[in-house]
Amino acid sequence: MCGIVGYVGRAQERSAAGGNGAHDALDVVIEGLRRLEYRGYDSAGVAVVADGAVETRKKAGKLGNLVAELEQRPLPESLTGIGHTRWATHGGPTDANAHPHLADNGRLAVIHNGIIENYAELKQELRAKGVTFASETDTEVAAALIGDMYRGAAGGDITKAMQLAAQRLDGAFTLLAVHADQPGVVVAARRNSPLVVGLGDGENFLGSDVSGFIDHTRRAVELGQDQIVTITPDSFVITDFYGRPAQGKEFEVSWDAASAEKGGFPSFMEKEIHDQPAAVHDTLLGRSDAQGRLILDELRIDPAELKQVNKIIVLACGTAAYAGLVAKYAIENWCRIPTEVELAHEFRYRDPIVDKNTLVVSISQSGETMDTLMAVRYAREQGAKTVSICNTNGSTIPRESDAVLYTHAGPEIAVASTKAFLAQITAAYLLGLYLAQLRGNIFSGQIKDVLADLGKIPEKIQQVLDNAEPLRELARSMKDEKSVLFLGRNVGYPVALEGALKLKEIAYLHAEGFAAGELKHGPIALIDEGQPVFVVVPSPRGRDSLHSKVVSNIQEVRARGARTLVIAEEGDEAVREYAEYVFYVPETPPLLMPLLTTVPLQIFAAELAQAKGFDVDQPRNLAKSVTVE
Ligand code: G6P
Repeated sequence: MCGIVGYVGRAQERSAAGGNGAHDALDVVIEGLRRLEYRGYDSAGVAVVADGAVETRKKAGKLGNLVAELEQRPLPESLTGIGHTRWATHGGPTDANAHPHLADNGRLAVIHNGIIENYAELKQELRAKGVTFASETDTEVAAALIGDMYRGAAGGDITKAMQLAAQRLDGAFTLLAVHADQPGVVVAARRNSPLVVGLGDGENFLGSDVSGFIDHTRRAVELGQDQIVTITPDSFVITDFYGRPAQGKEFEVSWDAASAEKGGFPSFMEKEIHDQPAAVHDTLLGRSDAQGRLILDELRIDPAELKQVNKIIVLACGTAAYAGLVAKYAIENWCRIPTEVELAHEFRYRDPIVDKNTLVVSISQSGETMDTLMAVRYAREQGAKTVSICNTNGSTIPRESDAVLYTHAGPEIAVASTKAFLAQITAAYLLGLYLAQLRGNIFSGQIKDVLADLGKIPEKIQQVLDNAEPLRELARSMKDEKSVLFLGRNVGYPVALEGALKLKEIAYLHAEGFAAGELKHGPIALIDEGQPVFVVVPSPRGRDSLHSKVVSNIQEVRARGARTLVIAEEGDEAVREYAEYVFYVPETPPLLMPLLTTVPLQIFAAELAQAKGFDVDQPRNLAKSVTVE
């Protein structure tokens, strides 16, 4: 989820006071990167075309490091530039892995947002032609491919080279390229990653979103899927990957700069809730082959050792621990390995039983949570194998673990976790399926089916997002409630816990999640006239459905005066008569349901907190990453 900016301006107007097209490329690009830095702060870099050459500067860490580097080693004035702020996926956050990446003997510079799934095979192919690589990134492979095309079939035309290269790339990408031979031109390609053109007067812009150029223009064109755009100071030309003319969608940006960063949403949390189809999609990218076999190259633990595993312990805190609870159901179901989930801060101080056949799976968005880190260290000392499911490349927990499976949710800014949660669940499913594949617990056809079902989740999340207005109304109407309870069973239980946690975190409202079956053993005493109770109802389909049990639980609370608010599967008409309010999510296999049923609860919490006038991105007393024990 990197940030990308591109700029071209017109020379003759540069000196005219207040004239258009009168900017230095570097100024525009750095300004754009400042606004886009929220998209990734692992490293930043720029390239400009000046005096018949491409010059770059790039630095690991925040944008400030690049700015300091530019003060030390200034770049020449230029009218053509590109800039990048990185959120690492392939290759850690180092200077060498920072973008831009060069090709064609340093005359071509490329920046990239996304994941190129077939980079390994392309790299092999290019190596065989004598190309050498300076980084571990998939981006450098794309740069080399564009360079190869430029010198070969494209006959020195950068647009043509981009088209030919894009035809060969799988995955998600926005790519921008400049070439020393073609000043005044930036070319870009887009598939499954965002790209917007900003239209100026005698100058044009490119950005991952409009905040990349909002200080200069409000006229914008959104590119469609699989399109290429070439901008010059006076033109923008859109084609498909085969050079056929294509159209973008022109629009006028009405947001101010602050809401542009949030994609027009009132908060980062709302934006991140809406990022979830992409977070799940990107976390699945590149992790299976055409035959539906899982390929987790990053998981560098000897398969023979993984086959020996006889116990799994999942360690995490907060929302990540609830993702772990969902993982338990899936892993035990698919792998038949006993799986415990433990809060990281509890694990270490109880003399846990861990040995070399224990696989410890830590889950952490930030990779820096001290409680989780300490627990992982302890587990390693005891001889366990450690795998980290993490959203932040190069952070401490994955560095200190034997292996890592990165989630690709992009940077999460809001303190209360949303998209990282769904990405963590997705990654845990992948890990569970991989272990099952390795150990032969389930047939390959079944794995393929689950992967296909996972592949459909992003569009189903989108449906949930698109149909949420009645739920938002409900949330607004409930802003003066004092307490909300949440019930769920099986995988719906961690969803209930997460729904309650969201309300506590951002709406400062008393909320509790319970296993629905536990209700009668105590919590039912809380139910009073009018008490709102959310119930996550499992699918009525399937042999072992707990549907009727949960419906009985609903009746128990209703009989005592509760207002029941139900999250159910589409087509579950039976539940209507027991509910004050029903929100339907699309059908999906029961184990995958949390990827859908969590979303309405996140939306409910965000809307209610916003109705109360709270800052949902920075709730009181909480920190995004807790680096103390
Ligand atoms: C903090 C945050 C939570 C988060 C938890 C774990 O408490 O406020 O939102 O779930 O840490 O964070 P991690 O980065 O390890 O996932």
